[in-house]
Amino acid sequence: MAPRTETAGEKTAETFKPEIVVLYCQHCVVQDADLTIAMKATSRFRAKLVMMPCTGKIEPSHLLKILAHGADGIQVLGCPYQQCHRLDGNLRAEKRIEYTRQLLHQIRMGPERLGMERGLDFSGLQLMLLAERRADAVKPLGPNPMKGERE
Ligand code: FES
Repeated sequence: MAPRTETAGEKTAETFKPEIVVLYCQHCVVQDADLTIAMKATSRFRAKLVMMPCTGKIEPSHLLKILAHGADGIQVLGCPYQQCHRLDGNLRAEKRIEYTRQLLHQIRMGPERLGMERGLDFSGLQLMLLAERRADAVKPLGPNPMKGERE
């Protein structure tokens, strides 16, 4: 039997290391959390953390711009229901994220590139695990097709 050879697509999937941008509400994370652990490059993905005053500030245009700049996925972390410090910021964020996921589906980039979780007192390790979960969802899609177009 002849040895199995890799196709170019398989090779890309094996070496693909998704870049995940984590947008998190400042009220979701434990005070004095060591976030350096969440930013450490692993062999499987890279994460960039961006703190926000509230996820209600997120607009679909921001999310699309992050992807246009080459991120492979975005993980949003907001406060739990009825615990947003700006009343309904997390609910507005949820609607905008769902809208953006639909856009990603329509343009065939994959809604899995974007997701939201809610909670309080996230540690640096938990942020990293959520980023890893997004990376796992993105990996089957392959690299962001817009990556490198702006370079
Ligand atoms: Fe945390 Fe609004 S203050 S999501």
